Parts: sequence; structure tokens; C-alpha cells
Amino acid sequence: MIECAMDKMLFEDYKKTCIQWVNAGIAQILDNQAIQQTDLLASIRYTALGAGKRIRAIFVHAACSLNQGDPNKALPAACAVELLHAYSLIHDDLPSMDNDDWRRGKPSCHKAFGEALAILTGDALQALSMQVLINSSQPHDVKLYQLKTLIEASGCQGMVAGQVMDIMQHQASAKNELQYLEKQNHAKTGALICAALSLGAYASNANQLIQKQLEQYGRAIGLAFQIQDDILDVAEKTDNMDKSHHSDYRQNKLTYVSVLGLSGARKKLSETFQKAEDTLSIFGPNARMIRQLTRYILERKY
Ligand code: IPE
Ligand code: IPE
Ligand code: MG
Ligand code: MG
Ligand code: MG
Repeated sequence: MIECAMDKMLFEDYKKTCIQWVNAGIAQILDNQAIQQTDLLASIRYTALGAGKRIRAIFVHAACSLNQGDPNKALPAACAVELLHAYSLIHDDLPSMDNDDWRRGKPSCHKAFGEALAILTGDALQALSMQVLINSSQPHDVKLYQLKTLIEASGCQGMVAGQVMDIMQHQASAKNELQYLEKQNHAKTGALICAALSLGAYASNANQLIQKQLEQYGRAIGLAFQIQDDILDVAEKTDNMDKSHHSDYRQNKLTYVSVLGLSGARKKLSETFQKAEDTLSIFGPNARMIRQLTRYILERKY
């Protein structure tokens, strides 16, 4: 119990350090880009350096540290995953998608810069994320594997596929709503989280066994992450709620809450959380921070 409370305190520092680490990495990447179009540079900086929780970067760091790797070798991967994620949020908020005006406590990118520039900013961030990986000083085989992982997780077998399912939810029949949601959410949210874990583990030369176990963990925590996101959309608004509230409800979205009700979604969250936590037991004390990260995802209020 005492150990757990101490881990919680340590995690608060760890989280802060990881956020500073990735923010500095992204700032440096942007400083090194010769972007001539000042509007594009402004919208990229606005989005990429916004107040995100940086959970995917922390996953990269934690997966690398789990295998006693040097996290600095994983920094390009952490930046790449966060840049890719930032692009996905810009497009997710567009009027033709979720039509949300708020993101990370500020007007969303299209509200601040207009729709056309927002779309292009997303495109630029996607390309930049790949560029960051290919320009890293990692050995060629590591870079190639990291690129393959990020491309697969973000494209038509990953995030984009999940987003398409999200806009095509009318295709789910009443009988298979939960299965539909599980597939959609694994693709739209879980795949990038799994990729973050895999990229971090690979930067530490993790073996197949570690990779496999982390993939199982990623599947469970990715799902838990989206269940909590769905709950927060309807739960009482907190002061730090940083994006549009009741967005799913307004759009009549199929979510864990719409299918299972709030208490059913909470039950599903705690079962999924437990599954995620169980997969970490094999790592013993090395998994202390990733275990706390799991708890943080469960308990987060925004
Ligand atoms: C929001 O992700 C999008 C989903 C996949 C549900 P986050 O909640 O991690 O957003 P930021 O990065 O902290 O803003
Ligand atoms: C979007 O899911 C996930 C992405 C791939 C960006 P949501 O639409 O639920 O994310 P929020 O709630 O707007 O952050
Ligand atoms: Mg959406
Ligand atoms: Mg959305
Ligand atoms: Mg949501």
C-alpha cells in the first residue's frame, strides 16, 4: 500500500518529466524545419505544442524504460507519435467530422486558422511524423520497423480505418453494436497506443516476448482509454475539461455509454482496466511506472 502511494508520487514527477522531454523534442524539430509559409508554421506550432496530456509519448518512454533502454533513443519515436496524434485530432474536429470547436483548452485548429489551412496542417503533421522517424539516428533496421509500425497503425488498417467506422456507424446492426465498437475503437485509438508501446520497446531492443506482451497490454489499455473518453463526454464537466463536452451525445454517436449506459460503461472500463493491469504482472517491479500510467488513464478527469 505504502509502495503504491509512493509510486503514485513518483509517477507525478515522471509524467511531468516525460511531458517536458517530448515538448522540448517537438519544439526542436519545429525549430529545425525551414517552413516558409508563416501561417502554416503558426498553425503547426499552435497544434503540435498545445497542452496535450502526451499519453502516447509517455507510453513510448515507459515501454523503452521497461526494458532498461535509453529513453533518449526513443525521443524521435515519442515526437513522431504525438505529431501523428495531433494531426488526427485536427481532422477529427473538422466540421465534416465531429464539428468540435474546442481542443486542448483553445479553439480547435479550424476555428483558429480556417478549415483549409487546418486540413493542410494535419497533412503536414502526418508527413512530419514520418520524416522525424526517418531522420533519426537509429540504425536502419530500427527506423524501418518503426516507420512500418507507425504507418500501419495510422492508415487504413489503423486510425483512419477506425475513423471511417466512426462515421459509418449506421452500418452497425443492433445485434453487433458492441463488437462494432470494439473493432472501431481498437482501430481508431488502440492501434496508435499499441504502436507507441512497440516503438518504445523497439528502441530498447526488446525481444519478441516483451513485444507480444506489450501488444496484449496495448489492446486492453487502448480500449480502456476510449471507454473512459466516451464516459468523460457525458460525465459531469470538470474545470479542466479541455475539449467540447457532450460532443458524442450531440452527434448521436454510438459509444460505450450509448450502448451500455453510464454504469455499464463504467463496469466495462473497470474490467478492461483489470485486463490491462494483469498483462503487466509478468514484468514485475520494472513495470511500476507503466502500472501507474494505467491507473492515471483510468482515473483521469479529462
Ligand atoms: C483524444 O486523445 C483522442 C482520443 C483518441 C480519444 P487524448 O485524450 O490523449 O488527447 P490529448 O492529446 O491529451 O489532447
Ligand atoms: C477520435 O475519437 C479519435 C481519433 C482518432 C482522433 P473522439 O472523436 O472520441 O476523440 P475526441 O473525444 O474528439 O478527443
Ligand atoms: Mg471522433
Ligand atoms: Mg472527436
Ligand atoms: Mg471522444
